[in-house]
Amino acid sequence: MPAQIIDGKEFSARIRQQVRAGVDRRLAAGLRAPGLAVILVGDDPASQIYVRNKRKACAESGILSVSHDLPADTTQTELLAMIDRLNDDPTVDGILVQLPLPPHIDDETVIERIRADKDVDGFHPYNIGRLTVRMPTMRPCTPHGVMRLLDGIGEKYKGRHAVVVGASNHVGRPMALELLLAGATITVCHRFTRDTAEHVRQADILVVAAGKPGLIKGEWIREGATVIDVGINRLPDGSLCGDVEYEPAAARAAWITPVPGGVGPMTVAVLMENTLHACVTHHS
Ligand code: GUN
Repeated sequence: MPAQIIDGKEFSARIRQQVRAGVDRRLAAGLRAPGLAVILVGDDPASQIYVRNKRKACAESGILSVSHDLPADTTQTELLAMIDRLNDDPTVDGILVQLPLPPHIDDETVIERIRADKDVDGFHPYNIGRLTVRMPTMRPCTPHGVMRLLDGIGEKYKGRHAVVVGASNHVGRPMALELLLAGATITVCHRFTRDTAEHVRQADILVVAAGKPGLIKGEWIREGATVIDVGINRLPDGSLCGDVEYEPAAARAAWITPVPGGVGPMTVAVLMENTLHACVTHHS
């Protein structure tokens, strides 16, 4: 039987409605709307699209987004000074610096400068550390969005083998930590893994975040597995595809996310949720 499709658009719409309701309750109580500062450095077309989607989601959720579009030659010192100002601004609950940054700016230095309680991306080492020691606070948006999808299809985690392909700071690593926290047994594959196919064959839950179109062959998927494809790759013809060969994987899996319309919308929905959470924390 072909896999059931995990509809990220539907799950994310529900989360965004809940955020909207939370914001409306604040406004009805005479409190201010949550504020998100969105910083974009340079003119990378993909980043511009992502940032536009985030700003649109803010508008729909009742979150006040303030755009800071900076030229590509902005220095690291200038960017850090802007973050310092936003850290001190009581109307700003969340600060998002769109990545990647131009090569002359160090991503990690910038992320670490954001106040941990305003780090709505959940990338700050403090927030990753909290997740590591089972005390999550601000959770990285994409991995947490994946967990919400898995929860939504009734995944129980305990006794299940989860394989994560990709070990990036912002997706693969926190994804493994989330799955571990939920009680799954984890394998992480990365560029130095000798036989990724062999690990993938053993996955009850497979999460792929490698950024390589078609890296995971459909025939590697275990019958009845749940397949979460975080990859969003643009092909030369302009179409989008994931890291997993979709059709043959869907023929074997029990559940699968489409690309687009799977994990992508969840990242944005969790970002809205994190921003509301940050705002509520700042008022309590
Ligand atoms: N670039 C690609 N994805 C993301 C994300 O989730 N957050 C930020 N800040 N930059 C990104």
